[in-house]
Amino acid sequence: MIAKKPSSGPLTRVQLLYEIGLSPQWQLRAQRAVALAPSRVPAPLPDERCPAAANAITAITELAPSPAATGVPALARSQAIAGMSWEQLQHSVTSCRACVLCQQRRQAVLGVGDVAAGWLFIGEGPGAEEDARGEPFVGPAGQLLDAMLAAIGLQRGRDVYIANAVKCRPPNNRTPESAEIATCAPYLQRQIALIQPRLIVLLGRAAAHALLGEVGSLASLRGQTFAYPVPQAGGRAIPVVVTYHPAYLLRTLTDKAKAWEDLCRARRLMRATQAAAAQAAPSLPA
Ligand code: URA
Repeated sequence: MIAKKPSSGPLTRVQLLYEIGLSPQWQLRAQRAVALAPSRVPAPLPDERCPAAANAITAITELAPSPAATGVPALARSQAIAGMSWEQLQHSVTSCRACVLCQQRRQAVLGVGDVAAGWLFIGEGPGAEEDARGEPFVGPAGQLLDAMLAAIGLQRGRDVYIANAVKCRPPNNRTPESAEIATCAPYLQRQIALIQPRLIVLLGRAAAHALLGEVGSLASLRGQTFAYPVPQAGGRAIPVVVTYHPAYLLRTLTDKAKAWEDLCRARRLMRATQAAAAQAAPSLPA
């Protein structure tokens, strides 16, 4: 029998997955009955529930540093953004009129979460609800993103920052154009430099386009690990993985298993990165 949501109180992770129709896609079939029982909520998923292939850490593809803006005004703007604090960034994004997306926005949406997060998730751009509320991923795709985060033991705002490739809503939720992504890129680059996350997860093609440049199909990017150089991080390169956008997954249920593989691989990479950082840190004298 399928468990029902209790009439009051916060939803558990499993109930949340169930409520948005996800639990069958995110659970191993054999464990489904247990997983759906509200009184038996498991801890964040252990490694053995990740497909073996997802645990393999593949070769890292080095990325060239982000292309500099061309043209004097664009270069000056990009250099100014590269020196901004969070407060200045918020102010600049709020008043930005650098591309046509400013014309129909209700508000620009910089991002949300822990500004010292280990995990950075990047989506495409605000939709109608995000435009109204000023926070990324608060509509149906956001509910799915929250469920995806919960499935790997993460929570919005706790060691996670969520941003978008473009900060203003494209009219009718169209895909942002290359020029719009490029104009907004200095903001995203500055966010990455300020956060210096341990891992970046790109959600969908627009995010991949923003960070990796003109790229092939999403399928060709999945399973690869890219290295995003951040000069401000002392030459450290941040590993980057690509997966499907939650809005796409809401339309294409059959690809949820692949997204789950990607998240498992991302979690594995994060652990490896953390272990490497711990080893590199000088040990304190006893
Ligand atoms: N889709 C995105 O890519 N970003 C949002 O903030 C909301 C929906």
